[in-house]
Amino acid sequence: EAPWLVVPAAGRGRRMGADRPKQYLSLHGRPVLAHTLARLHQAFPAARLCLCLEADDRHFDPAWVPFADWRRVPGGAERVDSVINALDAIAGDAGEHDLVLVHDVARPCVTVDDLARLHAVLADDPVGGLLATPVADTMKRDDGAGRASATESRVGLWHALTPQGFRYGLLRRALGEALARGLAVTDEASAVEALGQAPRLVAGRRDNLKITHPEDLALAALVLAAQAA
Ligand code: C5P
Repeated sequence: EAPWLVVPAAGRGRRMGADRPKQYLSLHGRPVLAHTLARLHQAFPAARLCLCLEADDRHFDPAWVPFADWRRVPGGAERVDSVINALDAIAGDAGEHDLVLVHDVARPCVTVDDLARLHAVLADDPVGGLLATPVADTMKRDDGAGRASATESRVGLWHALTPQGFRYGLLRRALGEALARGLAVTDEASAVEALGQAPRLVAGRRDNLKITHPEDLALAALVLAAQAA
């Protein structure tokens, strides 16, 4: 069964320092947002999409949405607020146990293979989970003054990627409680973990990068070209 898709795309992407939000920067002649939605559609053509956009977004063009069944919801102050807006917008249609995949619009390089594998793994997982990749670099703790004060073990450390997928009811409850407790919620899994549940780590590709800093756009262009070759 096709999952629900929530794509938060209401960030301003200030760290990019560009003239427009990063989801509208061009990759091989198409906006990042169009690439991301195309990948999701390839993997889940029958999915229903909820796209979080800033209310006064002047760059968005609905022609970039390949899904037949989709809706637009306003973004919130933080990513988690945008995702909650989306979940509340589909509350009447989504069942308690429906699988919801949340994917950052800023990750256009996610592969159809990874999407399909995540979906297959989560199909019968009681908790849910996320694409993730093991940390490869040696991890340094800074002393607050620009010097390394310690080396942290990277054993057992993973980078959390997206999509992250959970059952509708669990996800909505987890995000609501995390906000109520004042936790910093930068992904869905952290909120579920705070409920005492352990999301499944599904090993994904390292090139599923999040476009955050200016140099990431060139990297994403290279990744897309390499994946197409
Ligand atoms: O800022 P960052 O790149 O971590 O944002 C991750 C994702 O969350 C992006 O897809 C961004 O558009 C989205 N976002 C959002 N609403 C916000 C902040 C970020 O939908 N208020």
